Amino acid sequence: MTGLNALKGRSLIEPEDFSVDEMELLFSLAENIEKDEKYLRESCRGKILAALFFEPSTRTRLSFEAAMLRLGGNCIGFAEPGSSSSSKGESLADTIRTAACYADTIVMRNPKEGSALLAKNYSLVPVINAGDGGHHHPTQTLTDLLTIKRLLGKIDTITIGFCGDLKFGRTVHSLVKALVRYNQIKMIFISPKELVLPEYIKNNLIKQNIDFIESENLENSMNDIDVLYMTRVQKERFFNEDDYIRLKDTYVLNTEKMSMAKEKMIVLHPLPRVNEISIEVDSDPRAAYFQQAKYGMYVRMALLASIQGVVTC
Ligand code: CP
Repeated sequence: MTGLNALKGRSLIEPEDFSVDEMELLFSLAENIEKDEKYLRESCRGKILAALFFEPSTRTRLSFEAAMLRLGGNCIGFAEPGSSSSSKGESLADTIRTAACYADTIVMRNPKEGSALLAKNYSLVPVINAGDGGHHHPTQTLTDLLTIKRLLGKIDTITIGFCGDLKFGRTVHSLVKALVRYNQIKMIFISPKELVLPEYIKNNLIKQNIDFIESENLENSMNDIDVLYMTRVQKERFFNEDDYIRLKDTYVLNTEKMSMAKEKMIVLHPLPRVNEISIEVDSDPRAAYFQQAKYGMYVRMALLASIQGVVTC
């Protein structure tokens, strides 16, 4: 099978599960949906998405549910583990086996790294990873890449600055893993030393000859960056609250720092933001994070329709 037909019945656990060509086809489909919101409407009629969220979410859960509803399908699931039988001690494997009896696709967020792969191994229907601990968040990566492509017209040859919590930020880990497959990408990792990118990711970058630097200073890099990817310090992954309080406001993007940036630079953030982007930046035309959230719904529509095999190209 070729094209989007090849995604029928597939799971998405890590960004590399789909080839660059397959991702590009998804981006084209998402662009068609964006241009004509009636496109593919009703294509998933009769299909059911199970959204199993063991951790809080606004964008990922709502955009998946909105995507399935816009495609004419239906959604079941839970938004917090307390309302599922996992609170009575049911194993993840049994929860997944059960959800697969009722749904055509499962999307799951879970605080345990590796849980999405375990779910895939127990499921008779495709599983989409909506975030497994500090590990991966591949549909955020699809969202991020589509946003870059739509707003800058390309992904190749960009300089991207990742700023904030690079240790626990799963969206950063997934996006870095996806970007290494594009041409001439330069990465600048800006974080306090306690929150640097994990060694195993840096080692992979070195092995693949990717151009990257690490820095503790945002201002010094502002003028080099095409895409500034701001991130929240991940309070829920800290063992010690004092460390979180000490580090949480290390970087705050404000209008003064924006004045040092390129005219065509874009600011992305997977959201939620806490304090790391001042609200005064929201009115800057380079602030693209809410547009990014909307692209997330279009690309998830493209993904669900492709996994269900209702797109023929
Ligand atoms: N970007 C993202 O994962 O946001 P939510 O936590 O609100 O789903």
